[in-house]
Amino acid sequence: MTGVLIVLEGGEGSGKSTQAARLVARLRGGGSDVVPTFEPGGTELGRSIRALLLHGAEPVAPLTEALLMAADRAEHVETVVRPALARGAHVVCDRFVPSSLVYQGVGRGLGVDAVDAMNRTATGGLVPAVVVVLDVTDAVAARRVPAARDRMERAGAGFHARVRAAYRDLAAERGWVVVDGTPDPDVVEAAVWSVVAPFVVTASA
Ligand SMILES: Nc1ncnc2c1ncn2[C@@H]1O[C@H](COP(=O)(O)OP(=O)(O)OP(=O)(O)O)[C@@H](O)[C@H]1O
Ligand SMILES: [Mg+2]
Repeated sequence: MTGVLIVLEGGEGSGKSTQAARLVARLRGGGSDVVPTFEPGGTELGRSIRALLLHGAEPVAPLTEALLMAADRAEHVETVVRPALARGAHVVCDRFVPSSLVYQGVGRGLGVDAVDAMNRTATGGLVPAVVVVLDVTDAVAARRVPAARDRMERAGAGFHARVRAAYRDLAAERGWVVVDGTPDPDVVEAAVWSVVAPFVVTASA
Protein backbone atom coordinates (compact mmCIF):
# COMPACT_ATOMS: atom_id res chain seq x y z
CA MET A 1 0.00 0.00 0.00
CA THR A 2 1.46 3.35 -0.98
CA GLY A 3 0.67 6.64 0.69
CA VAL A 4 -1.20 9.56 -0.80
CA LEU A 5 0.30 12.90 -1.84
CA ILE A 6 -1.82 15.81 -0.62
CA VAL A 7 -0.86 19.34 -1.71
CA LEU A 8 -1.93 22.62 -0.13
CA GLU A 9 -1.76 25.63 -2.40
CA GLY A 10 -2.70 29.29 -2.52
CA GLY A 11 -1.22 32.76 -2.59
CA GLU A 12 0.77 34.36 0.20
CA GLY A 13 -1.12 34.46 3.49
CA SER A 14 -3.92 32.19 2.29
CA GLY A 15 -3.33 29.87 5.27
CA LYS A 16 -1.39 26.99 3.68
CA SER A 17 1.03 26.44 6.56
CA THR A 18 -1.72 26.81 9.18
CA GLN A 19 -3.91 24.26 7.44
CA ALA A 20 -1.05 21.89 6.57
CA ALA A 21 -0.22 21.60 10.28
CA ARG A 22 -3.87 20.96 11.16
CA LEU A 23 -4.26 18.37 8.40
CA VAL A 24 -1.13 16.55 9.54
CA ALA A 25 -2.46 16.49 13.12
CA ARG A 26 -5.81 15.11 11.95
CA LEU A 27 -4.24 12.39 9.83
CA ARG A 28 -1.91 11.41 12.66
CA GLY A 29 -4.86 11.44 15.06
CA GLY A 30 -6.47 8.85 12.78
CA GLY A 31 -3.38 6.66 13.04
CA SER A 32 -1.76 7.53 9.70
CA ASP A 33 1.96 7.78 9.14
CA VAL A 34 2.40 11.31 7.73
CA VAL A 35 5.37 13.22 6.36
CA PRO A 36 4.83 16.99 6.44
CA THR A 37 6.99 18.85 3.95
CA PHE A 38 7.15 21.97 1.80
CA GLU A 39 8.58 23.60 -1.32
CA PRO A 40 10.82 25.28 -2.06
CA GLY A 41 13.38 24.10 0.51
CA GLY A 42 12.18 20.71 1.73
CA THR A 43 15.67 19.18 1.43
CA GLU A 44 19.15 20.27 2.49
CA LEU A 45 20.05 21.21 -1.10
CA GLY A 46 16.64 22.84 -1.39
CA ARG A 47 17.38 25.13 1.54
CA SER A 48 20.27 26.58 -0.43
CA ILE A 49 18.11 26.91 -3.55
CA ARG A 50 15.38 28.57 -1.48
CA ALA A 51 17.89 31.08 -0.07
CA LEU A 52 19.10 31.91 -3.60
CA LEU A 53 15.55 32.32 -4.84
CA LEU A 54 13.96 34.23 -2.00
CA HIS A 55 16.78 36.07 -0.28
CA GLY A 56 19.37 36.78 -2.98
CA ALA A 57 20.28 40.42 -3.55
CA GLU A 58 20.39 40.17 -7.36
CA PRO A 59 17.30 39.94 -9.58
CA VAL A 60 16.68 36.43 -10.99
CA ALA A 61 15.55 35.97 -14.61
CA PRO A 62 12.13 34.29 -14.83
CA LEU A 63 13.44 31.18 -16.63
CA THR A 64 16.25 30.82 -14.07
CA GLU A 65 13.69 31.09 -11.28
CA ALA A 66 11.52 28.40 -12.87
CA LEU A 67 14.47 26.03 -13.39
CA LEU A 68 15.71 26.50 -9.83
CA MET A 69 12.20 25.77 -8.52
CA ALA A 70 12.13 22.66 -10.70
CA ALA A 71 15.57 21.58 -9.47
CA ASP A 72 14.43 22.01 -5.87
CA ARG A 73 11.36 19.90 -6.69
CA ALA A 74 13.34 17.15 -8.43
CA GLU A 75 15.54 16.73 -5.35
CA HIS A 76 12.52 16.85 -3.03
CA VAL A 77 10.49 14.31 -5.01
CA GLU A 78 13.42 11.93 -5.35
CA THR A 79 14.70 12.04 -1.77
CA VAL A 80 11.66 12.89 0.37
CA VAL A 81 8.29 12.47 -1.35
CA ARG A 82 8.70 9.21 -3.30
CA PRO A 83 10.45 7.34 -0.46
CA ALA A 84 7.70 8.40 1.99
CA LEU A 85 4.90 7.34 -0.37
CA ALA A 86 6.67 4.05 -1.10
CA ARG A 87 6.79 3.09 2.57
CA GLY A 88 3.08 3.84 2.88
CA ALA A 89 3.20 7.30 4.51
CA HIS A 90 0.90 10.10 3.43
CA VAL A 91 2.73 13.25 2.36
CA VAL A 92 1.27 16.67 3.11
CA CYS A 93 3.16 19.15 0.94
CA ASP A 94 2.94 22.93 1.39
CA ARG A 95 3.22 24.03 -2.29
CA PHE A 96 4.09 21.80 -5.28
CA VAL A 97 3.85 21.99 -9.11
CA PRO A 98 0.74 24.23 -9.05
CA SER A 99 2.80 27.01 -7.42
CA SER A 100 5.22 26.95 -10.36
CA LEU A 101 2.42 26.96 -12.94
CA VAL A 102 0.89 29.96 -11.23
CA TYR A 103 3.93 32.00 -10.11
CA GLN A 104 6.36 31.29 -12.94
CA GLY A 105 3.91 30.29 -15.69
CA VAL A 106 1.40 33.09 -15.21
CA GLY A 107 2.94 35.55 -12.72
CA ARG A 108 6.35 35.73 -14.44
CA GLY A 109 4.81 35.20 -17.89
CA LEU A 110 6.71 32.06 -18.96
CA GLY A 111 3.52 30.30 -20.00
CA VAL A 112 1.77 27.48 -18.17
CA ASP A 113 2.60 24.82 -20.79
CA ALA A 114 6.35 25.54 -20.74
CA VAL A 115 6.47 25.40 -16.95
CA ASP A 116 4.29 22.30 -16.91
CA ALA A 117 6.74 20.52 -19.25
CA MET A 118 9.80 21.23 -17.12
CA ASN A 119 7.91 20.10 -14.03
CA ARG A 120 6.90 16.80 -15.61
CA THR A 121 10.62 16.19 -16.01
CA ALA A 122 11.34 17.34 -12.46
CA THR A 123 8.70 15.12 -10.84
CA GLY A 124 9.06 12.14 -13.17
CA GLY A 125 5.31 12.46 -13.67
CA LEU A 126 4.35 12.23 -9.99
CA VAL A 127 0.86 13.72 -9.63
CA PRO A 128 -0.81 14.55 -6.29
CA ALA A 129 -3.95 12.64 -5.32
CA VAL A 130 -5.54 15.95 -4.40
CA VAL A 131 -4.63 19.65 -4.59
CA VAL A 132 -6.46 22.03 -2.25
CA VAL A 133 -6.23 25.72 -3.16
CA LEU A 134 -6.95 28.09 -0.28
CA ASP A 135 -8.56 31.17 -1.72
CA VAL A 136 -8.72 34.58 -0.03
CA THR A 137 -9.37 38.02 -1.46
CA ASP A 138 -6.52 40.42 -2.15
CA ALA A 139 -7.58 42.50 0.85
CA VAL A 140 -7.54 39.54 3.26
CA ALA A 141 -4.13 38.44 1.98
CA ALA A 142 -2.76 41.97 2.44
CA ARG A 143 -3.97 42.04 6.06
CA ARG A 144 -2.39 38.67 6.83
CA VAL A 145 1.00 39.43 5.24
CA PRO A 146 1.55 43.02 6.30
CA ALA A 147 5.29 43.22 5.58
CA ALA A 148 7.05 41.86 2.50
CA ARG A 149 9.64 39.46 3.90
CA ASP A 150 11.20 37.98 0.78
CA ARG A 151 11.73 38.55 -2.95
CA MET A 152 8.43 36.93 -3.97
CA GLU A 153 6.47 38.94 -1.45
CA ARG A 154 8.10 42.13 -2.73
CA ALA A 155 6.91 41.39 -6.27
CA GLY A 156 4.02 43.82 -5.80
CA ALA A 157 0.27 43.82 -5.30
CA GLY A 158 -0.45 43.45 -9.04
CA PHE A 159 1.71 40.32 -9.28
CA HIS A 160 -0.01 38.74 -6.29
CA ALA A 161 -3.48 39.60 -7.54
CA ARG A 162 -2.54 37.87 -10.85
CA VAL A 163 -1.33 34.86 -8.87
CA ARG A 164 -4.59 34.54 -6.95
CA ALA A 165 -6.63 34.88 -10.15
CA ALA A 166 -4.45 32.27 -11.87
CA TYR A 167 -5.09 29.79 -9.05
CA ARG A 168 -8.83 30.18 -9.59
CA ASP A 169 -8.58 29.83 -13.39
CA LEU A 170 -6.22 26.85 -13.40
CA ALA A 171 -8.15 25.10 -10.62
CA ALA A 172 -11.17 24.87 -12.89
CA GLU A 173 -9.06 23.38 -15.71
CA ARG A 174 -6.97 21.01 -13.66
CA GLY A 175 -9.29 19.67 -10.99
CA TRP A 176 -7.73 21.49 -8.04
CA VAL A 177 -10.30 21.98 -5.29
CA VAL A 178 -10.76 25.58 -4.19
CA VAL A 179 -11.61 26.13 -0.50
CA ASP A 180 -12.53 29.53 0.93
CA GLY A 181 -9.63 30.43 3.22
CA THR A 182 -11.39 33.45 4.74
CA PRO A 183 -13.33 32.03 7.71
CA ASP A 184 -12.02 31.03 11.12
CA PRO A 185 -9.21 28.42 10.87
CA ASP A 186 -11.46 25.75 12.45
CA VAL A 187 -14.01 26.27 9.67
CA VAL A 188 -11.34 26.13 6.96
CA GLU A 189 -9.89 22.99 8.57
CA ALA A 190 -13.26 21.24 8.37
CA ALA A 191 -13.65 22.22 4.72
CA VAL A 192 -10.15 20.98 3.86
CA TRP A 193 -10.84 17.71 5.67
CA SER A 194 -14.06 17.13 3.76
CA VAL A 195 -12.05 17.37 0.53
CA VAL A 196 -9.09 15.24 1.65
CA ALA A 197 -10.79 12.50 3.71
CA PRO A 198 -12.20 10.50 0.76
CA PHE A 199 -8.75 10.18 -0.81
CA VAL A 200 -7.18 8.96 2.40
CA VAL A 201 -9.96 6.46 3.15
CA THR A 202 -9.96 5.10 -0.39
CA ALA A 203 -6.19 4.74 -0.37
CA SER A 204 -6.07 2.76 2.87
CA ALA A 205 -9.19 0.67 2.27
N1 LIG B 1 -8.42 31.25 8.62
C1 LIG B 1 -7.66 32.22 9.11
N2 LIG B 1 -8.20 33.33 9.64
C2 LIG B 1 -7.41 34.33 10.12
N3 LIG B 1 -6.07 34.33 10.10
C3 LIG B 1 -5.47 33.25 9.56
C4 LIG B 1 -6.23 32.15 9.05
N4 LIG B 1 -5.36 31.23 8.57
C5 LIG B 1 -4.12 31.73 8.79
N5 LIG B 1 -4.20 32.94 9.40
C6 LIG B 1 -3.06 33.79 9.77
O1 LIG B 1 -2.60 34.41 8.57
C7 LIG B 1 -1.18 34.44 8.55
C8 LIG B 1 -0.71 33.66 7.32
O2 LIG B 1 -1.08 32.28 7.49
P1 LIG B 1 -0.14 31.11 6.97
O3 LIG B 1 1.27 31.37 7.38
O4 LIG B 1 -0.77 29.82 7.35
O5 LIG B 1 -0.31 31.34 5.40
P2 LIG B 1 0.58 30.78 4.21
O6 LIG B 1 -0.37 30.57 3.09
O7 LIG B 1 1.38 29.63 4.68
O8 LIG B 1 1.51 32.02 3.92
P3 LIG B 1 2.92 32.06 3.12
O9 LIG B 1 2.59 31.96 1.67
O10 LIG B 1 3.48 33.39 3.48
O11 LIG B 1 3.75 30.90 3.61
C9 LIG B 1 -0.70 33.86 9.87
O12 LIG B 1 -0.46 34.92 10.75
C10 LIG B 1 -1.89 33.01 10.32
O13 LIG B 1 -1.96 32.89 11.72
MG1 LIG C 1 3.43 29.24 4.66
